[in-house]
Amino acid sequence: MYIESISAEGFRNLYGIDLKLNKGINIFYGNNAQGKTNILETVYVCGTGRSHRTRIDSRLVNFNGSECHVRIFCVKGSRKDRIDLHIKKDERKGIAVNGIPIKKSSELFGTLLTVIFSPEDLGLVKDGPSERRRFMDMELCQMSNVYCYDLQQYYKVLKQRNSLLKNIQKNPSLKETIFVWDNQLEEYGKRLISARRNFISKLNDISAIKHKKITGEGEILKIEYKPDCKEDNFHSKLLSSIERDIMYGTTSQGPHKDDIIFTVNDCDVKLFGSQGQQRTVSLSTRLAEIDIIENETGEKPVVLLDDVFSELDESRQKFLLESIKDTQIILTCTGVEDVVKKYIKNASIFYVENGKVIKKTCV
Ligand SMILES: Nc1ncnc2c1ncn2[C@@H]1O[C@H](COP(=O)(O)OP(=O)(O)OP(=O)(O)O)[C@@H](O)[C@H]1O
Ligand SMILES: [Mg+2]
Repeated sequence: MYIESISAEGFRNLYGIDLKLNKGINIFYGNNAQGKTNILETVYVCGTGRSHRTRIDSRLVNFNGSECHVRIFCVKGSRKDRIDLHIKKDERKGIAVNGIPIKKSSELFGTLLTVIFSPEDLGLVKDGPSERRRFMDMELCQMSNVYCYDLQQYYKVLKQRNSLLKNIQKNPSLKETIFVWDNQLEEYGKRLISARRNFISKLNDISAIKHKKITGEGEILKIEYKPDCKEDNFHSKLLSSIERDIMYGTTSQGPHKDDIIFTVNDCDVKLFGSQGQQRTVSLSTRLAEIDIIENETGEKPVVLLDDVFSELDESRQKFLLESIKDTQIILTCTGVEDVVKKYIKNASIFYVENGKVIKKTCV
């Protein structure tokens, strides 16, 4: 799939953006703090319903404005979809697909598939488990409406169970009613666990191959799913932790505590990896993600590359571009560097300055 055009008004510092994109490579260059990442962010938000940089939607609206609009046309085979994003400060954001407002993010997923490579990717390896759960959830939601629905239901039930746990502290007789939530939590939770297990197993297989190639056969990458509970013991764990859960007023076990472990040559990358190693692991993971999305949906996602070239050595830059050469690419950099000139043909080049974009040329 590819994006045909993007327009944006009042999204962060962007104004009067109205761009026709190339089906191949699109390069946005300019000095720091001009709006390059903001352009990628418009695409990511329209694809996933949320930003990769903030959970607070109102931050996406210009400091001096009260609302922002983004419109993206994307093409899949003979089908063209229009995504409209509208955010008003202090209100919930609105997204419409082909003019029809969506009520849940599950209705949006799949319309515009994206994979982003960004400086924040390091967080996938380095940060706490919630970042890795978020990663699994974002990827699985893009590929499966069922997963997205199960995830929403799971968190809804979890919230209700937690609120009941707090009420039980005051009124112990309510304890008898908890099984209603436990049954539902177990039903949705088991589906999340098995979907995540399946996804990480595929991710592990593909990323290991990518990683081996990137590192010149030097490193063996393993990605392992660490579920907090397994499908067959979730029920008994809920039962056995009930007293503790009531005491703390929160559900202590379940997929909301899952994690993933990345190891290189059997060493935990989070604890022992060098910065370059951690970056390469996140690169291999993202590359694997592209293949999985294509295998699962039959569509190639749009690849967003935010300033990644400055962090990679020449052979890794070459490998990255070679791996994604058949996808639409939107990339940002501070200068149209030599490497870009060297490896990229037929790109559209856009210059970004102070929230405005000027189309330069095709190279
Ligand atoms: N809500 C907002 N309203 C107005 N400006 C904003 C808002 N949020 C961010 N900005 C500004 O947008 C500018 C551009 O940000 P962006 O992250 O796109 O820069 P960039 O061109 O990618 O720079 P770099 O090369 O440093 O990554 C920054 O100066 C930032 O302060
Ligand atoms: Mg940037």
